[in-house]
Amino acid sequence: MKPVTRKIAIAFGILAATTFVVAEKVATPIAIGVSVAQTSNTALLGREQVIGAQIAESFFNSRGGVNGTPFKLFFEDTGGDEAGAINAFQTQINKNNVVAIVGPTLSQQAFAADKIADRAKVPVLGPSNTAKGIPQIGDFIARVSSPVSIVAPNSVRAALKINPEIKKVAVFYAQNDAFSTSETGTFQETAKAQGLEITTVQRFQTTDSDFTSQVSAGLATKPELVIVSGLAADGGNLIKQLRLAGYKGLIIGGNGLNTANMFPVCQQYCDGVLIAQAYSPTAAGSLNAAFRTVYKNTYKKEPPQFTAQAFAAVQVIVEALRRVDKAAKVSGAELADVRVALNDAILAGTYNTPLGTISFDKEGEVNQKLFYVAQIKMNPDNKTGSFVYLK
Ligand code: ALA
Repeated sequence: MKPVTRKIAIAFGILAATTFVVAEKVATPIAIGVSVAQTSNTALLGREQVIGAQIAESFFNSRGGVNGTPFKLFFEDTGGDEAGAINAFQTQINKNNVVAIVGPTLSQQAFAADKIADRAKVPVLGPSNTAKGIPQIGDFIARVSSPVSIVAPNSVRAALKINPEIKKVAVFYAQNDAFSTSETGTFQETAKAQGLEITTVQRFQTTDSDFTSQVSAGLATKPELVIVSGLAADGGNLIKQLRLAGYKGLIIGGNGLNTANMFPVCQQYCDGVLIAQAYSPTAAGSLNAAFRTVYKNTYKKEPPQFTAQAFAAVQVIVEALRRVDKAAKVSGAELADVRVALNDAILAGTYNTPLGTISFDKEGEVNQKLFYVAQIKMNPDNKTGSFVYLK
């Protein structure tokens, strides 16, 4: 290289290095990332989350945002797999310069993507990850979605209340999905603790649509209760095929099936399925009443759990940001410092959300008090229906 060329190259090198170390500042409006599934089968859940986050964005911005500074949600689609979640998280962290991320939809994705945010010291609030071990991924990982160990047993107790004669249970789960694997563990422990006999454990993949062999092997054991841990598309098809094969007993669906977007998949065969809920539209509290009204005005039905949880996740970040901002103005401050202060503030706060009053333990696990069980009631059109909450 000629000396002049070398000097220019060195100068560019220094410039590049300098640019690299220039610290990012928090922009106005304050950027908050939302990375959930907007495409793929996982979007059956993710679409409900986008709505909850959007409602929270306009709701809290119209109430002053972060002490007078507006915030803006940056949506980056994760799709339904780990690679999509990793890409979306990287864009949020390095390009959108968000102060925190709400996401991803699946625990399976969280185990891959959350580590990246944790290493970059960017707070993550899981809106729907319910597998065991999510908050333990790192110091910057928390969730508003109560874990399977707390939520799932409620539906087994409800099934036994409806039919105390149940003795034999067939269990089905998606073995390629971290949440489903975790949830079936809780279901099986609960069933045994209730004195039930697990007659069979049938495994499938979230990508499956034909469950002929699992259904016939499962029903051959003559179960009086079937418990399914999977996601909405596979779970919906499995339920449909169980009914078409003649199964007449109660069915419990897990958290991955907790969406009306499953109804067009299992149609009339969804009717009667029991699903535990971490949210009730009729729960007390002025914030839930306000959230419910906004949702119902637009969508003409009751808000679902995934929507309420996404709303709560954005709310927690905004309220924690307000406290950080009171101590030292967030807008224009060093992004890295705000991310760390925000993580501490999230974990320290108590929040009156549509999910009820929630707080976090030091690992980022949510403390939530109220849970429910609903039963699906399909409409005569066989495509729409509702969740009827049990007393
Ligand atoms: N609760 C489901 C999960 O954790 C959506 O993956």
